[in-house]
Amino acid sequence: MALASVENDVLGDALKRVQGEIDSVFDAFLPVPHDTSARLVEAMRYAAMGGGKRVRPLLLVSTAELYGVDRTAALCAAAAVEAIHVYSLIHDDLPCMDDDDLRHGKPTVHKVYDDATAVLAGDALHALAFEILADSQTSADPFVRSELIATLGKASGMGGMAGGQMMDMVADEEGVEYDLRTITRLQQLKTGALLAASVEMGAILGKVAPEGRAHLRAYSRDIGLAFQIADDLLDVEGDADKAGKALRKDDEQGKQTFVTLMGVDKAREQARALVDQAVAHLSSHGSEADTLRALARFIVERDR
Ligand code: IPE
Ligand code: IPE
Ligand code: MG
Ligand code: MG
Ligand code: MG
Repeated sequence: MALASVENDVLGDALKRVQGEIDSVFDAFLPVPHDTSARLVEAMRYAAMGGGKRVRPLLLVSTAELYGVDRTAALCAAAAVEAIHVYSLIHDDLPCMDDDDLRHGKPTVHKVYDDATAVLAGDALHALAFEILADSQTSADPFVRSELIATLGKASGMGGMAGGQMMDMVADEEGVEYDLRTITRLQQLKTGALLAASVEMGAILGKVAPEGRAHLRAYSRDIGLAFQIADDLLDVEGDADKAGKALRKDDEQGKQTFVTLMGVDKAREQARALVDQAVAHLSSHGSEADTLRALARFIVERDR
């Protein structure tokens, strides 16, 4: 118990630090122009700053730290991943997708602005991510920059987040019945891909050869799946005030998840087993990987 709370304190501090740092990076990359496009940047700032756990940035920065990467460079890459994540949430909340009014405890972008502004804010955050990765501040090495761009592009598009979101949207159509294998794939694309990219990009910045990244890939594959199972469990049994978003919606919207397929208890068991497996993949590292271990545990035990 005592050990767990020390672990939580350390993780809590690490998350708080990275939350402040990512807000600062977005603040620097998103100056509000003095013309009528200001509304777009205001909406981007509204969505990107002052909310969110910043799990992906902490994953990236903590992996980069294992290999002695400069923190400013890691934070730039982390902001790029988070920009994709924030864009995915803005679009996910739109009436044509999950139709949500609340995110991070405040009204969603399309509620504060309008649908068109929300679509454009998502589009512009998507573009910003790659602009940041192409910047020499992220890495002086053009080969590293191009590998970062390729990795995030793949994780965001048809073979990653967007592909998974498509499978998620199709799930409520009549006659569509997903088995465990298909739900696993859906979750790995929708959520796992960006989490895995965060770890991979930390290793790319550290110039770790692909064969040296195998254990990190195994770690991130397991936490990626566990992360979405935890989100689906929160939808069923979480506290909406803590989560800062509407819950009890997945069933009503015909979502197919591990929870709908195997029930709450088995899904939780599965998520915990995945985390144990993820932590075991870090056995070649010493205490320098403790943040990654603590993050894996936080991912399934979190209440928001
Ligand atoms: C929510 O992600 C959407 C999923 C991919 C499950 P997070 O739980 O990381 O969202 P924030 O950014 O911390 O609010
Ligand atoms: C969203 O999954 C995954 C994304 C790629 C944005 P959910 O639709 O379950 O996320 P929440 O519950 O709205 O945060
Ligand atoms: Mg959704
Ligand atoms: Mg949603
Ligand atoms: Mg959800």
